[in-house]
Amino acid sequence: MENIKWWQRAVVYQIYPRSFQDSNGDGIGDIPGIIERLPYLKALGIQVIWLSPIYQSPNDDNGYDISDYLKVSPDFGTMDDVQNMLSVAHDLGLKIMMDLVVNHTSDEHQWFIESRKNKENPYRDYYIWRDPVDGHEPNNWLSDFGGSAWEFDDKTKQYYLHLFSKKQPDLNWDNPNLRQKIYDTMQWWLDQGVDGFRMDVINLISKPADFPSDANVTLANHGSSMNFIANGPNVHDYLKEMNQLVLSQYDIITVGETPGVSTADAVKYAGFDTNELQMIFQFEHTEIDNSHEGLGKWSNERFKLVDLKRILSKWQNDLYGKAWNSLYWNNHDRPRVVSRFGNDSDQYRVRSAKMLALTLHFMQGTPYIYQGEEIGMTNIKLSDIADYQDIDTLNAYDDLVLKQKRVTANQMMSYVYHSSRDNTRTPMQWNNSHQAGFTTGKPWLAINPNYTNVNVSASLRDQQSIFYFYKKLINLRQKMPIITTGKYELLDLEDDEVYAYKRVNKDSQLLIISNFTSQNQIRHYNQDDKGQLIISNYNDDEGDTLRPYEAKVYKF
Ligand code: NOJ
Repeated sequence: MENIKWWQRAVVYQIYPRSFQDSNGDGIGDIPGIIERLPYLKALGIQVIWLSPIYQSPNDDNGYDISDYLKVSPDFGTMDDVQNMLSVAHDLGLKIMMDLVVNHTSDEHQWFIESRKNKENPYRDYYIWRDPVDGHEPNNWLSDFGGSAWEFDDKTKQYYLHLFSKKQPDLNWDNPNLRQKIYDTMQWWLDQGVDGFRMDVINLISKPADFPSDANVTLANHGSSMNFIANGPNVHDYLKEMNQLVLSQYDIITVGETPGVSTADAVKYAGFDTNELQMIFQFEHTEIDNSHEGLGKWSNERFKLVDLKRILSKWQNDLYGKAWNSLYWNNHDRPRVVSRFGNDSDQYRVRSAKMLALTLHFMQGTPYIYQGEEIGMTNIKLSDIADYQDIDTLNAYDDLVLKQKRVTANQMMSYVYHSSRDNTRTPMQWNNSHQAGFTTGKPWLAINPNYTNVNVSASLRDQQSIFYFYKKLINLRQKMPIITTGKYELLDLEDDEVYAYKRVNKDSQLLIISNFTSQNQIRHYNQDDKGQLIISNYNDDEGDTLRPYEAKVYKF
């Protein structure tokens, strides 16, 4: 671990631009709004911002359907605004990592408009086209947003592949011209001064040879073929090529979003010596409360702490010395962590949000904070499905309630409250004024009504707030190398109430203890009494008695 890189010490903050800060009253967050709030992020202490997509897009999937990689969506601003944002950020010592969405484009991208014109078009092969088989789809692959992953195009009587919505056709990475165009695009953005890329579903870019059907799914199943398709035959060759031609030429940060990976896969994608990516996002710990009835994430089941410990510990141990972890609880696709793994009641919201922050931020890896997590924003309950905006939520409702009638409307709403992506996409709560200080207009998605007491202004005024707790955690990571380098050791896997682990270096140790329950727990970890308490979410220490959601760290 001698050669620690800057991105291994960094803490990243994710901005979902649509919901961060509106500056012109159109109800949609924008780049001037982000610029206005950069000093706030500086005050929090983070080093890197990951910006969800800001490119031109018809917004079928909120910007993850890009129609021009080199243009900024007018919803968000102009290229001048981007330049301005980069220069203000850099002056503050903040880096900006862009979202690179290159498994697919929008169907309104010029490449696809050309591609669908006729079979001879030079762009035809930029996408994945197949003849019907016996008058049907070429195989049974399912889109992650429900239904078949194939769409028939009447003009040329072939199907094209879309692993997400039918407005997100998959690119054909086996075409070297397409690959070169992507590398040119990346180069172009790096030359504008961006500091890295988060790569959307990057392990889906190489599809299984011969396109076999997926034996585990049927159309009458609200599943997804993502895991079946993931980690295809050429993916490592393509990432090594990308690394050699582009990434290795810059001192940047890279993280790949990779559903369906094992730790062995991770060592290939993000190994210290594999020359692909620096980190990946794995999903195992975000799937522990998935449905037991085959409905994927559409469930309202409560997670088991033992599962969380088992999975996070496996990732800590298996990557140690070989590859680098990314550490995250939530993002724009996953519900709010305090509502999910904590307790968002008035009584315990602050305490449990701090407990979760501490549990994650003492692990090895690069931590990611999703906007609003640092003030303990919670999931939302909108009464009517029509008030939701997320394509994934709306499609699932349509499929499971209206078409398949597998769940009742009430049941589905309880799943939506638990799992919908809109839970984390509600606008940032800046203060207790009209529309939470997010916009002077009508917000594109409802504001969580709890903004009157859960907001940034209130957090900044209160020295005991979740915000200052995150700031302290970030600060400790900068000051104490053991948080970056120490070896992780789990204590007592079978304990389903308390998560305790150590970080161990040659000459020091940390002991991290988190009570995940609302009851007192008594635990003794054989620590000698010379331990120094370095952070806690209570103002005093009762030793072996762990109060509700108490979390603390001792240094030895
Ligand atoms: C993963 C992104 O995080 C998600 O928001 C998006 O819908 C899909 N990839 C498709 O781009």
